[in-house]
Amino acid sequence: MNVRVTKPRLFLTRRIPEPGFSLAHQLFEVTGGDEDKPLSPDRLVNGVAGADALLCLLSERVDAGVLDAAGPQLRVVSNMAVGFDNIDVQAASKRGIIVTNTPDVLTDATADLTWALILSLARRVPEGDRMVRQGQTWRWGPFLLLGRAVAGTTLGIVGMGRIGRAVAQRALGWDMRVLYTRNNGALPPAMVLPGARWEYRERLEDLLKEADIVSLHVPLAPETQHLIGAAELQLMRPGAFLVNAARGPVVDEIALVEALRSGHLGGAGLDVYEREPHLAPGLADLPNTVLLPHLGSATVEARGLMAELAVQNATAAVRGERPAHVVNPEVLKV
Ligand code: DGY
Repeated sequence: MNVRVTKPRLFLTRRIPEPGFSLAHQLFEVTGGDEDKPLSPDRLVNGVAGADALLCLLSERVDAGVLDAAGPQLRVVSNMAVGFDNIDVQAASKRGIIVTNTPDVLTDATADLTWALILSLARRVPEGDRMVRQGQTWRWGPFLLLGRAVAGTTLGIVGMGRIGRAVAQRALGWDMRVLYTRNNGALPPAMVLPGARWEYRERLEDLLKEADIVSLHVPLAPETQHLIGAAELQLMRPGAFLVNAARGPVVDEIALVEALRSGHLGGAGLDVYEREPHLAPGLADLPNTVLLPHLGSATVEARGLMAELAVQNATAAVRGERPAHVVNPEVLKV
């Protein structure tokens, strides 16, 4: 007798990189995922109906309406990102739905990009590139596009989690003192690298007053929305740089434009924005900014691993096993 084994149903909100894409098709009956573009809320609500697993990206907002549209069989929302502010986790937990994310595999990529922002900003790389590319007349000169030294300065890491620590680790190569804030207090000594000068600051204000470069690495949550506003920017050292490769709404972008315009801040390196893909008025006109289109994890390697991990998380959840990275462990029965 032929027994037909039915696969669990996975709704993919958009195309994901290999090997995740093929793995998803191997393990699930997949719908969606044919295109690489954000899905409209209507298509999300229609597409998710009847799915056992939803694999989404931060380009889609997954709220109570989406979860209800899926139906009571939905076991897991697997986000292909470390951040999960696009998902109403509380609504998922209330319905017993597991939410998973993809940390670790993008830590190096995001830390590298943070450093790309730091160095581009300090050494005015985009301005130099534009000057050469646009055919402006230039000659070597002792005052041409002078930047600022990075080596030996003080780096402030706001949020010493996985990515913050990887950014601090790279700062060893620039012989920097690193100040950091962290939710759970100072790092246990075993997590401090040999030779590192890492100093915990309990109060964000103290870090802001002392750092030459402030780099943000906190998740977006109600308590981190506008963590850096006008008052905090004013506390920063004159000429200091602000770098944000975390989430846009952590910074009050209008206040940032003002702090840059006034000359109080030396510059800002941004990979994320308050209302992506829109920028606060005036931001793009400021020469002392480096602006990237949310590229933190955008390497072939990281994105491949993220997609694979997102599929593995979804697979474990529908099998009743414990996924590797669960955001709401209170719903787990295993
Ligand atoms: C994340 O994973 O949260 C990044 O912002 C996108 O990869």
